Amino acid sequence: MNTIQVELGNRSYPIWVKPGLLSDLPDKLQIFNHGQQWVIITQPFLAGEYGSRLAEQLKANDFRVALLTIPKGEQAKALSRVESLYEDLLRMKCDRSTTILALGGGVVGDVAGFVAATFMRGIDYIQVPTTLLAMVDSSIGGKTGVNLPQGKNLVGAIYQPKAVAVDPHFLRSLPLRELVSGFAEVLKYGAIRDREFFHLLGKNMEILLSLGDDQMLEDAIARSCAIKAAIVSADEREGGMRRILNFGHTIGHALETTTGYNVLRHGEAIAFGMLCAGFISRNLGFIGSDEWERFRDTLYQLPLPELPSIDPEVVLETITLDKKVQAGTLHFVLLEEIGKAVVSTDVTEDDLLEALEIL
Ligand SMILES: NC(=O)c1ccc[n+]([C@@H]2O[C@H](COP(=O)([O-])OP(=O)(O)OC[C@H]3O[C@@H](n4cnc5c(N)ncnc54)[C@H](O)[C@@H]3O)[C@@H](O)[C@H]2O)c1
Ligand SMILES: [Zn+2]
Repeated sequence: MNTIQVELGNRSYPIWVKPGLLSDLPDKLQIFNHGQQWVIITQPFLAGEYGSRLAEQLKANDFRVALLTIPKGEQAKALSRVESLYEDLLRMKCDRSTTILALGGGVVGDVAGFVAATFMRGIDYIQVPTTLLAMVDSSIGGKTGVNLPQGKNLVGAIYQPKAVAVDPHFLRSLPLRELVSGFAEVLKYGAIRDREFFHLLGKNMEILLSLGDDQMLEDAIARSCAIKAAIVSADEREGGMRRILNFGHTIGHALETTTGYNVLRHGEAIAFGMLCAGFISRNLGFIGSDEWERFRDTLYQLPLPELPSIDPEVVLETITLDKKVQAGTLHFVLLEEIGKAVVSTDVTEDDLLEALEIL
């Protein structure tokens, strides 16, 4: 088992990564069990596949546990859903001692985390991520929240979990596109912080995507978690360093918005966004042509879908509206080399347009 610590003073917490960890959870969670009510928040498919068995195992180990579900899909990230969860918790006589287990992908983690952050002014919660994206990204760092009709993630809180329990075996039931989407974020960690990791991923992408090597998969997830944990520990509220996590995201988010959220998975859009960011890095002289080609060829190890035809001008408009344009300044993440990201405020609209043309 890999254990990574997110260092945030008295709010520090461990990330455990181990294939088969689900069966060990009653044992691992014993330190947090004081006879309080536990509530697993998950989605119907995940409840059937994993949640019910987890609840039974916990009960057999003297946990008081109940299971609640929310629908799948981004629409579940809504204040109305949060309100009905509060009502469920009250109906079950939950109080400040209650602990929530968020069993699911980023949608479950964001909603259940926000409920934990706000119910009775904050109760304990533990992330049990079941998508690769949630394992390496959304379950770590404490960003929780929901969408408004006007936009994504407009309401939320930064509220850290007590632990993150990662079992890569969940990925066996995950659709391939979701897995590819997660590996785009894994490649991002290599690109911004760890050159050797990036090359290792490029060399082994096929076996990783086939889930054919448990140890390699565990290590890839743990290395990604360690990078995110280190960045979050240094910069919890995205003042500076946390910005490099947005590598590929300025253009990626704009692609998600302009193509409509159902066309590209998040990580696919980020992969295209990273391609553009790499291209701009080369055009501005940050990296050489060899490095750019190596970067591009590695990203293309991911089986990405055909990008629907996009109008670069429309994508550009979306970028300028994006919330990351703070006080008129675009903070754009570039590569100084593979494994080293820098934030630049010198990227112009023409640079962006030129990069969008390559898509
Ligand atoms: N809080 C953060 O820091 C942060 C970071 C990145 C993304 N996010 C948010 O995360 C969300 C996306 O997360 P996601 O990509 O995990 O999507 P998701 O939670 O919607 O999961 C994708 C789909 O896979 C299903 N699923 C989950 N685990 C499964 C499994 N093991 N087997 C089979 N099916 C499974 C889900 O039910 C869902 O239909 C977005 O709302 C995004 O805003 C949050
Ligand atoms: Zn992302």
